[in-house]
Amino acid sequence: MSLAGLFLITFLVVHLAINILILFDDSRELFNQAAHFMITNPLIQGFQWVLFAGFILHIILGFVLQVQNWLARPTRYDRKGHSETSYFSKFMIHTGVIVLIFLGIHMANFFFRVKFGEVPMITYDSGDTYRDVGLLVIELFKDLGYVVFYIISLLLLGFHLDHGFQSAFQSLGLYHKSYTPAIKLIGKFYTIVVTAGYIAIPVVLYFF
Ligand code: HEM
Repeated sequence: MSLAGLFLITFLVVHLAINILILFDDSRELFNQAAHFMITNPLIQGFQWVLFAGFILHIILGFVLQVQNWLARPTRYDRKGHSETSYFSKFMIHTGVIVLIFLGIHMANFFFRVKFGEVPMITYDSGDTYRDVGLLVIELFKDLGYVVFYIISLLLLGFHLDHGFQSAFQSLGLYHKSYTPAIKLIGKFYTIVVTAGYIAIPVVLYFF
């Protein structure tokens, strides 16, 4: 569960690094070039199955863990005691399910359209022709409903990551007072940068 989670944490950085390109280039050439590389590179296409397996493993094990927790303590505590865990740790299954719903809609928005649908082509001054995946992103975020949906989902993803990052290290046995504070700090930094980065995309495209 932790290893799959850390793998997805790494994926989110790569995915953001590519997606954010759309904000720095009005012609979308950089973004479309990067998308073209991701779509056509056989190594990356192969790796995509590893990514999906990582998601499925993480989701299944997350549900199993939650059911085990419920069975271990069918009646809830009466009083809220002191806990070392963060506030969001209590809501991992809830934020996880919302991220899963987001992912389904996100796949329909982009992945299935790129894989199986019609994507317009664009030719740049350099003579290079690409599928205009960037246009799909720009068109989607003209719709305020999607902008709001993405912002809320990404905030919940942020809450999921806030606990998930440090929890992954702890579950792997990497917990010690000498370095755990540093892991928690890096986790906070990662969560803020990644969440803000993803949210910036619909916000900038819609409002600016
Ligand atoms: C504003 C935020 C985001 C934008 C603009 C965006 C954009 C895209 C685009 C354009 C694709 C299709 C790429 C292709 O097939 O070549 C894609 C695929 C995908 N996205 Fe996102 N994405 C965003 C956030 C996220 C988040 C937060 C997650 C995970 C929780 C995610 C997970 C995926 C996955 C798993 C795929 C399919 C694999 C892949 O094509 O790399 N995306 N996204």
